[in-house]
Amino acid sequence: MGVIFEPFKIKMVEPIPLTTREERERRIAEAGFNPFQLPASAITFDLLTDSGTAAMSAEQWAAMLVADESYAGSRSFEKFAAVVRRLTGFRHVIPAHQGRAAERILFACAAKAGQRVPNNCHFDTTRANLEYLGVVAEDLVIAEGRDPASLHPFKGDVDLARLERFLDQHRGLVPFGMCTITNNSGGGQPVSLANLRAQSALFRRHGIPFFLDACRFAENAWFIREREPGQQGRSVAAIAQECFALADGCTMSGKKDALVNMGGLLALNDDDLAARCRQLLILTEGFPTYGGCAARDLEAYAVGLEEGLDERYLEYRAATTRYLAHGLNRAGIPTVQPPGGHAVFIDARALLPHLPPEQLPGQSLVVALYVEGGVRACEIGSVMFGKRGADGGFVPAALELVRLALPRRCYTQSHVDRVIEIAASVAARKESLTGFAMVERPQYLPHFTARFRPLAPARAFAPADRTGRGRDPPRC
Ligand SMILES: Cc1ncc(COP(=O)(O)O)c(C=O)c1O
Repeated sequence: MGVIFEPFKIKMVEPIPLTTREERERRIAEAGFNPFQLPASAITFDLLTDSGTAAMSAEQWAAMLVADESYAGSRSFEKFAAVVRRLTGFRHVIPAHQGRAAERILFACAAKAGQRVPNNCHFDTTRANLEYLGVVAEDLVIAEGRDPASLHPFKGDVDLARLERFLDQHRGLVPFGMCTITNNSGGGQPVSLANLRAQSALFRRHGIPFFLDACRFAENAWFIREREPGQQGRSVAAIAQECFALADGCTMSGKKDALVNMGGLLALNDDDLAARCRQLLILTEGFPTYGGCAARDLEAYAVGLEEGLDERYLEYRAATTRYLAHGLNRAGIPTVQPPGGHAVFIDARALLPHLPPEQLPGQSLVVALYVEGGVRACEIGSVMFGKRGADGGFVPAALELVRLALPRRCYTQSHVDRVIEIAASVAARKESLTGFAMVERPQYLPHFTARFRPLAPARAFAPADRTGRGRDPPRC
């Protein structure tokens, strides 16, 4: 096959900020060494998240212009609900301003303190929303899903034997089960259709509703088509529809595969639960035909749900992620294998073995990537998921990852090449990277607002020396 190129041309451009190393050293220190606290005007390559960062298409912008902003019964809602029903098959479509709002509403209406919810891996907002209610969030991903080097094609699969034991052990205490497609916290890894079918059958046997956390439903369906025996002849849309048909409902952030900058939804079949969710929606999000979104957002969302399933786009997207991962690997940077859908996850523990988990190797790497070349990445390790144990000691996360998320349809191949160059420069001086300590840790979602301090003098960020090593490479 020839080069897999971007299946679009660029109609509108946005300049990207270019900064000096000195500026970046100052900015990151002012931000408490937390890239979430950096202004976007100080970032050259923003790979913090693939959420809400997509470039919308001409079709999406055009749809926004014909939106019906009626408070109740908007035509745009009807259009949106019809697209969601066609894709998911769920009767009730409840818009929300983003994924976590849908989660909060579902969880508040369906779960209570002392109960337990299984998932392959709960994403941070899912976990936080459950824990906020006093519900235990349990991760039951297969062992391979926790091994960054494993080449298992579906590392998002749930360990079915563990799920069965879990359901037997906690009879009467499981209000619903969840599965995240693709598994973001576990490295953007897909879940196989066979595993979804088996989970669905298990939950149905126990009379427990099954919900998908379906932000990346299209990328998951693409991987099923690519990797699962027997699925090659099917359309990606048909595979996605089958995944939804195996569940009783879903939460979805539209900011990922649906290619919008804002929007989310809850969709489900249970009439009584849907009525309770709508009541809470009215209290906290808005009327059920807009639910925290402008009608123009729903228009763009409806178009994006279909564009996100375009197979040429999905082929290019998977190729971009693979290209970034292979470039990093060639520079000696270990990444979670095989590359996932929306992001490449660097294994910071393997790259920086001199930094133990309590010195936050992932945070050290995100700071270095920023200082080196203005790349903003996200730590997914002990900053995000580390805990205090019963004895007050530090309990690290299972993995110390750094996520380079690829915004959809935003960056070109030369941007990706430059990111690889920057990461390679960091890897070349990896022994000089110092650990970090968290000096302010908020109770929920600490990675957003925590502040850090380097465990050694700031000089450890390799200032330019007389040989020119450590200087910004020339820009083209
Ligand atoms: C798997 C998963 N679930 C839920 C969410 C929450 O969605 P939102 O950011 O729209 O609230 C995210 C966001 O990154 C996610 O990746």
